[in-house]
Amino acid sequence: MKNIYVTKSFLPPMSKYQKYLDSIWDSCHLTNQGMLLNELEEKVKKYLKVKDMHIVSNGTIAIQLALNALDIVEGEIITTPFSYVATTSAILWERCTPVFVDINSDNFCIDAEKIEKAITKNTKAILAVHVFGIPCDIEKIESIAKRYNLKVIYDGAHAFGVNYKGKSLLSYGDISTCSFHATKLFHTIEGGCIIAKEKKISEKIELTRRFGHHDDKYICLGINAKASEFQAAMGLCNLKYVEKIIKSRKEIAETYDYLLSDVVNKMMIPCEVEYNYSYYPIVLKDEVETLHLMKKLNDKNIYPRRYFYPSLNTLTYLKNQQHCPVSEDISLRILCLPLYYGLEMKNIEIICATINECLLNLDIA
Ligand SMILES: Cc1ncc(COP(=O)(O)O)c(C=O)c1O
Repeated sequence: MKNIYVTKSFLPPMSKYQKYLDSIWDSCHLTNQGMLLNELEEKVKKYLKVKDMHIVSNGTIAIQLALNALDIVEGEIITTPFSYVATTSAILWERCTPVFVDINSDNFCIDAEKIEKAITKNTKAILAVHVFGIPCDIEKIESIAKRYNLKVIYDGAHAFGVNYKGKSLLSYGDISTCSFHATKLFHTIEGGCIIAKEKKISEKIELTRRFGHHDDKYICLGINAKASEFQAAMGLCNLKYVEKIIKSRKEIAETYDYLLSDVVNKMMIPCEVEYNYSYYPIVLKDEVETLHLMKKLNDKNIYPRRYFYPSLNTLTYLKNQQHCPVSEDISLRILCLPLYYGLEMKNIEIICATINECLLNLDIA
């Protein structure tokens, strides 16, 4: 059996990408907000039903641009320890201090009930993650932010295609960001986007993602966060398949739900959420069981991932160590199972049989 990884990048038919390549060769316009990028931005805005949106070179720089656009410099940022390292590194890279607030064990998102206790006079913002595309407690977070005059940024790296209360999950907060990395369900090879609520902030992002100048007019400090025409071309191809991809992922997730119902609790999708089935996490009894199951799956060339491990509050290069018992515990015993367009039923059955056998203790050596 070929190796099965937690994800596999979706690739459109080569002929469709080739058509866009031909147009790039004709125009000789490879980057710098080219025609294809403009076209993709319009199409993604239409798909997400948002007014303003900027595509950038990746989802990490999107968070950094968001912090910069909101003038958050050197302050404390309340954030989650349960995410990919990019959420924390973006904060540190912008010379801010992450203050970790523990998570809910049921949806893996920041525990909004614990946020207030972590607020100090230096707190500038809340940077929460819609982990695996499941919304944080948006109402509670926004009400705390309003009360304490804090900015809210949502790292929606996993949230493309998720709707909450009838609108894109990426339209909440002062700013939402997303990742269009090759492993995501919608991708531009590398890429990401930023959606800001206020026009003024959106205009600042537009400027800062391109060095902070318009032609010969140098207006503010900026950076290079531009996406190329090759990335845009991939996005234009892939956008046409998003609905099909989500539908297929839903079927795979439901098959997992069914075949694993004796051994794992399925992740609950709250009401008012139209989900994108971006991940299929399972939480095991303890780390020993987790590593044992990983080994059993690896022996069959199946490679789930420990998303997210380690808990980010334990990163050794942080100045202050903060304790987040729920996140630390979940990090040790969570695995995300393979989930991607094209994952074959026979392989899903092998994955589930291996898990069932292992967890029901039938794998007596
Ligand atoms: C939660 C989260 N935030 C941020 C990122 C960073 O995105 P990118 O890889 O596009 O820089 C990722 C990437 O996987 C992620 O999972």
